[in-house]
Amino acid sequence: MADEKDHPNGGGFTRRGLIKGLATTAVASATAGAAALAEERAKTDTAGAGLPVSITLNGAVKKGVFAPRTTLAEALRDAWGMTGTKVGCERGACGACTVLLDDLAVNSCLTLVHDADGRKVTTIEGLGSPEAMSPIQKAFVDADALQCGFCTPGMVVSCAGLLAKDPHPTTHAVKEAVAGNLCRCGTYTGVFDACAAAAKAGVNHG
Ligand code: FES
Ligand code: FES
Repeated sequence: MADEKDHPNGGGFTRRGLIKGLATTAVASATAGAAALAEERAKTDTAGAGLPVSITLNGAVKKGVFAPRTTLAEALRDAWGMTGTKVGCERGACGACTVLLDDLAVNSCLTLVHDADGRKVTTIEGLGSPEAMSPIQKAFVDADALQCGFCTPGMVVSCAGLLAKDPHPTTHAVKEAVAGNLCRCGTYTGVFDACAAAAKAGVNHG
């Protein structure tokens, strides 16, 4: 019986020839794809060349060299050890990464470290320590305003930012200040109470 794979079938094509053609095309495509990937990587590497940054972090000057695409959250946590700044979504949706940039609460996952160059950054560590808590941190503890604690640094920093510019905020203002801070444990009532208590105590900074 004749092998149909080796003999043309009326249209001048064979299965073997077709398979060879497909394989050749696949190899050519893969080679082109690899070349495109290498070219893209080369571009990215060039774009990723480090540039210097200097910021005042929690009162101390910090310097580093970072690729242009490095976020402030990455620099804070990985380069400067400020792991109190949490990273949840990395897209501005949860507020866990909130820090103060020149006293304004920002999502550090959406802020490039180069945009913080020459500016003041305050993280949860800059507000106080477990041994010497700032008034707003103590108010959170007193109000039992946390459960798992993952959102808490961002919540505290948002409240600190609010109190720094508005020492006696309304409940509405507090809710607005932490509107970008999500708490999966549902501690919002405690957070509102803590911020109100800190305001009542006359705390207007940290
Ligand atoms: S990690 Fe930045 S907003 Fe969620
Ligand atoms: S305390 Fe758990 S996410 Fe807010």
